[in-house]
Amino acid sequence: MDSWLVSGGRPEAPGSPINAPIVPASNYIYGGGDFSYARDEGTPTWVALEDLMAKLEGGAALAFGSGMAAIAAVFDQLDVGAHIIWPDDCYQGVAGIIDTGAAQGRWTSERISLSDTTSWVEKAKSADLIWLESPSNPLLEIADLAAICSAERKPGSIIAVDNTVATPLNQRPLDHGADVSVTSATKYVGGHSDLLCGITVCNNAELQDGLFRARLLNGATPGNLEAYLATRGARTMSLRLRAAEESSLILAQRLESHPNVEIVRYPGLPSHPQHQLATEQLGGFGTIITFDVAGGLEPGEQFLKRLQLLTNATSFGAVESTIERRAAIHGQEHLPAGLMRMSVGIESVEDLWADLANALS
Ligand SMILES: Cc1ncc(COP(=O)(O)O)c(C=O)c1O
Repeated sequence: MDSWLVSGGRPEAPGSPINAPIVPASNYIYGGGDFSYARDEGTPTWVALEDLMAKLEGGAALAFGSGMAAIAAVFDQLDVGAHIIWPDDCYQGVAGIIDTGAAQGRWTSERISLSDTTSWVEKAKSADLIWLESPSNPLLEIADLAAICSAERKPGSIIAVDNTVATPLNQRPLDHGADVSVTSATKYVGGHSDLLCGITVCNNAELQDGLFRARLLNGATPGNLEAYLATRGARTMSLRLRAAEESSLILAQRLESHPNVEIVRYPGLPSHPQHQLATEQLGGFGTIITFDVAGGLEPGEQFLKRLQLLTNATSFGAVESTIERRAAIHGQEHLPAGLMRMSVGIESVEDLWADLANALS
């Protein structure tokens, strides 16, 4: 897939520009071609991104204005009274959608620990939406996708996997039996912290139709510039990801033996409770490391202030390394006060370690 990422979705006709151009048009002249109105069929710029992502994950792709727009399109598929099962640890935007809808009486929901495969399999029988996020954000817990996706389930139910942290290069949820994979292309696909975009990849025709209608009717469309930048970012995703993963393992190992660090969560460490499953299921262990600075809030804040190379900012999956104290984020107050979520970028690993070690001392 690395070569596909570099060359896929490009125009093919002789004389074409080598990159699908940014096409700033809301409408098209009737009488030929695939497009009439951009909110409906899209533009050649988004279609290039969709072609790229479709083959990467093995289904039909749709591009959205953000990861959240793509996620919301999945929840739009539920009938009133639906039952949702979802992870204990999960991106807080998803929690926002589920909690708001539950308060409005639109659905009921139940949270399950991602490591509790038995409960997922049992409860899949009566759920309308099985929402998975693996690895999860921010605690990097892993779901056994093959076991959960092959469980007996209610007819017409949907299995959706948020593939953002895993990345579409390291994990193809549809291969395990999921109906739809959702990725925030804002993160690793774009890779440069300069866009918002979301992608769904689906192999269920009825669901794909529903997602298409949700995008059309909610106007949840991507910008042309953003779609162009996401495609351009995807061309180097493999190089960026592999370089940052190499550094991540080194940093996770060093953090684990640092006296001022309490717990290090990284699926590539043998100490991760699901290291074996991560090794079998993922093509790589990713670039997020979650660790607790000893002493909690105050030492954690001091540590962040002393960093010079790492940027104290949210988000992940970009060329630059970022780090934040997660309990400071709305909806994440339940996390340990000193818990840091670090996204490792492509800087020199020794420079990153020097910065971390200095701030931790
Ligand atoms: C796991 C995960 N899924 C989805 C999203 C939402 O993506 P976006 O910010 O592009 O809407 C995020 C954002 O941080 C995320 O971390």
